[in-house]
Amino acid sequence: MANDDQFKKVISHAKEYGYVFQSSEIYDGLSAVYDYAQNGAELKKNIRDYWWKAMVQMNDNIVGIDAAIFMHPTTWKASGHVDAFNDPLIDNKDSKKRYRADVLVEDYCAKIENKIEKEVKKAEKRFGEAFNKEEFISTNGRVLGYQEKIDTILKRLGQSLEKEDLADVKALIEELEIADPLTGSRNWTDVKQFNLMFGTKLGASADSAMDLYLRPETAQGIFVNFLNVQKTGRMKIPFGIAQTGKAFRNEIVARQFIFRMREFEQMEMQFFIKPGTQKEWFNHWKETRLKWHLSLGMGQDNYRFHDHEKLAHYADAATDIEFKFPFGFKELEGIHSRTDFDLKQHEEFSGKKLQYFDHEDNANYTPYVLETSIGLDRMFLAVFSNALEDETLDDGSVRTVLKLPAVLAPTKAAVLPLVKKDGLPEIAKTIIDDLKWDFNVAYDEKDAVGRRYRRQDANGTPFCITVDHDTLEDNTVTIRHRDTMEQQRVKIEDLRDIIKKEVDVKEWLQKM
Ligand code: GAP
Repeated sequence: MANDDQFKKVISHAKEYGYVFQSSEIYDGLSAVYDYAQNGAELKKNIRDYWWKAMVQMNDNIVGIDAAIFMHPTTWKASGHVDAFNDPLIDNKDSKKRYRADVLVEDYCAKIENKIEKEVKKAEKRFGEAFNKEEFISTNGRVLGYQEKIDTILKRLGQSLEKEDLADVKALIEELEIADPLTGSRNWTDVKQFNLMFGTKLGASADSAMDLYLRPETAQGIFVNFLNVQKTGRMKIPFGIAQTGKAFRNEIVARQFIFRMREFEQMEMQFFIKPGTQKEWFNHWKETRLKWHLSLGMGQDNYRFHDHEKLAHYADAATDIEFKFPFGFKELEGIHSRTDFDLKQHEEFSGKKLQYFDHEDNANYTPYVLETSIGLDRMFLAVFSNALEDETLDDGSVRTVLKLPAVLAPTKAAVLPLVKKDGLPEIAKTIIDDLKWDFNVAYDEKDAVGRRYRRQDANGTPFCITVDHDTLEDNTVTIRHRDTMEQQRVKIEDLRDIIKKEVDVKEWLQKM
C-alpha cells in the first residue's frame, strides 16, 4: 500500500475502532486538536505507564512529579521561551497559505529520501537474497549523490537558522524551487519568526489580570522544583525528576493527524548531573531510551538517531530518536544535553539559589542536565500505525489486524460465548468477573464467532476466549492468539497465567 493510503487507513481505523476522534467534531472539529476515545485513552494510559515504570519505578534515583500547567510568567522569560521559542514562517502570496519554512525544506529532502528508498527497493528486487542493504547504500553512486544533496541542504538550513539568517532560508527555498504544496505557486514572502506559546489571563478584573502562558513544555515545572525535590527527597547527584503532562504550542503547520498537535502530552525526565559528565550521560540515555523503544518489538530498522546541527538555545548536544511513520522517518523523542542553562536562568530571574552541595567534593555547584523528552501522542501514533496490517491469509482472504504490543493493548482479552443460550453467556460473564481484577476484558456475543474474531483482531485484542458446549462438561475454553490465530484448549483456571505471561510489563521491560 502506498504510504499516503496507509496513513489514511491509520486515521480512519483510529476513528472506526474508538481510538482517536477529531475534537468537537459536531462543530466541524478544531484544527490539530484531537480526543482520545474509549480504546485510545486506554492505549495512551498503557504507554504512559510503560514509560513511568521504566523511568521512575525501575530507577531508585529517579522520582516523578506532577507540576501545574500554569506557571509564573517569569518562568518563560527565564527559560528563553518568550524571546526564542519561535518557528520561521513563510507565506505564499498567491494562496495566502502560511508554512513553516524549515518544514518546506525538510519535506523537499524527504522527497529525495524517497528516491533513495526506491533505488534500494529496485536493487533488492534485482539482487534477491544476495542483497546487502548497508553495502548498497554506502557504495551506490546515485544513492550517495542523493544523500550528499540532503546533507548539504540540511546543513545549510541548520546553519542559517542557528545564525537567525532568515534571508538565507528564503534564498534556499527559492534556489531549490520549492513550490506551495497546495497550489504550485513560488511567490513567497520573506521568512519571519512567530512565537509558539499560547497566552491567557489569570484573575477576574481586566486591570489586575496577569498575563500567563500555557506551558509549551513540561520541563520547566521540573526545573523550578529542582531544589524542593532534591531536599525533600534527599536526592544525591546523579538523580532524575520525571513527569508526564499536557503541553501547548500554537503550531502553524499542524497536519499529520496526532503527530503535530496544538495540545499534546509529553513524558519528560531531567537528569541532574555533575558538570563535565554530560557526554557520558548523553550516551547513556541515548542507549537506554533506544532500548526502551526496542523492548516493544516494533522493529530495529524503524528507528534511527538524528543528531542536531541546529541546537536549541539551551543545549550543547542533542539527538532525536526518529521513527519510521507512514510518512517517513520523523522525530519521536529528543535527548538533549541542556547544560546548566535552565537552573542558572531561574537563579538569575528568581534571585533564589538553585545549587547543589556535593558532600563528596565538599563544593556547591549548579548541576548540568540531561533531558529525555518524548511526545506521548507521537508514541501512540508510532505504536498504532506500526501495528495496523492488512494480512493476506493462506486461503487468499485478507484480515485487518492491529498487532499492538500485547502489553499496551487496551483490551487484553475478549470472552465470547459460542451461542447466546444454553448457559454459555453466564459462564463467559463469570470468566470476565474473575479476569477483570487483573486485566481489561470485554464481552462480545454478537455475530458469528469468526466475525467476532475479526472484530477483535482489528481492535488489537491479543486474546479471544471462546466458551462452547464442551465448557459445560469439562471447564475448558478455546483461547485464540491474535497474531498467529493459533487456538488452544485450556482450563479456565489457567487463563490468568496464560494472559499474564504475554501482557505483563515485567516480561516486556526485561527485554531492555
Ligand atoms: N523539553 C524539551 C522539548 O519540549 P521538543 O523537541 O520541543 O523538546 C519533545 O519536544 C517531544 O515532544 C518531541 O520529540 C515530540 O515527540 C513531542 N512534541 C513536540 N511538539 C509536539 C506537537 N506539537 N505535537 C505532538 N508532539 C509534540
